[in-house]
Amino acid sequence: MKYQNILIKDISAHIRLITLNRPAQLNALNKKTIEELHEALKKADDDRAIRVVILMGSGEKAFAAGADIKEFMNFTPEEGRKLSEDGHKLLFDFIENMKTPVIAAINGYALGGGLELALASHIRIASTNAKLGLPEVSLGVIPGYGGTQRLAHLIGKGRAMEMILTARPVDAQKAFTYGLVSEVVPFEKLLDKAVEYAGYILKNSPQAIGLAIEAVNAAFTNTGLKKENELFGKAFSTSDFKEGTRAFIERRKPGYSVD
Ligand code: CAA
Repeated sequence: MKYQNILIKDISAHIRLITLNRPAQLNALNKKTIEELHEALKKADDDRAIRVVILMGSGEKAFAAGADIKEFMNFTPEEGRKLSEDGHKLLFDFIENMKTPVIAAINGYALGGGLELALASHIRIASTNAKLGLPEVSLGVIPGYGGTQRLAHLIGKGRAMEMILTARPVDAQKAFTYGLVSEVVPFEKLLDKAVEYAGYILKNSPQAIGLAIEAVNAAFTNTGLKKENELFGKAFSTSDFKEGTRAFIERRKPGYSVD
């Protein structure tokens, strides 16, 4: 399959780099990108030679700045719910349950769906210029690609609530302090660092790695994902959602109702 929005490169016989490649849109995750990522990740997971996948964004500015707001801003609540459901199935739950470990190398903004992509990955490292956040409520919507569940699992409910309700991104250093990323390195060293982590993984039993992922995931059954899915759709029926997404496109601050 020829991809439009992602790039594939084998760094070695066992390490595959998948790069999100819509830099002009800060690698925002539209439907096509999600479908292509699904295809590419499935192919990697089915290929016994590929034992680690590294995910990165093209350019220096963004890993991914979220779900594509322009694509979903006119969706009905049912279309919104389906967007979240399909995303879970094709990409976020899919990655979490792969037997091949996925390392997110966060090279800039990881916002909304972009951070959710990193959260679904098995290991996260960040460059010093990275900014990580779930700004969805600033748009009148909620995280819909697993962020309400996986962020709380990873860094605890209190910090997750802080990040989700304030919508404020954290810088790489704070993300490290929060336990959101394993390591922070300068941008130029990010890929090398991801390859170094891949090297540690490659020394181990591939079969045991797959079983370990399954066992760790068993402790986090994510029953809240269904609820997130439903509430994400519900947000699409609100006047705040219409105002928030329109304000983003018009590059102004949203004026939310307070009654
Ligand atoms: N969706 C669609 N387009 C996006 C986008 C997104 N999430 N993020 C950035 N872009 C586009 C911009 O519209 C702009 O496109 P044009 O040049 O065609 O106008 C281009 O990428 C460059 O972005 P900016 O000009 O805004 O760059 P900036 O440096 O001024 O700001 C930014 C960078 C702070 C990351 C800003 O782009 C931003 O706030 N982006 C949106 C972040 C966000 O809210 N993400 C959450 C999305 S909702 C979600 O993810 C839901 C879910 O959980 C399922």
